[in-house]
Amino acid sequence: MKQFLFGNSPDSVNDLFPDRVIKRLLLDEEEIGVLRIGNTFFAFQSSCPHRGASLIQAHINGQGEIICPLHQYRFDLKTGQLKMGFCGDLKVFQTQLTEEGLLVFTQ
Ligand code: FES
Repeated sequence: MKQFLFGNSPDSVNDLFPDRVIKRLLLDEEEIGVLRIGNTFFAFQSSCPHRGASLIQAHINGQGEIICPLHQYRFDLKTGQLKMGFCGDLKVFQTQLTEEGLLVFTQ
């Protein structure tokens, strides 16, 4: 497992990730999306598992689901589980907010 650190304090992490704005990050060669909702962080593959549309412009609904802008398939932000549509699940990554910044873990 690899880990990547963003920011250098909890305050800097909040500045880097404005509330409810999906930010694009690169982990080595892999592009992911990171979203903060309050004090909770979500990290997920940035391309939709259906046809590869970018999820950086996706919407988030009140059930904690991310909605692909192309065909409106929905995925659980926490688990990546497909909630509506016909494709595989969204790949998600563990995160941890520390005093040193936000850690994102890859498998
Ligand atoms: S490309 Fe995302 S739902 Fe089709």
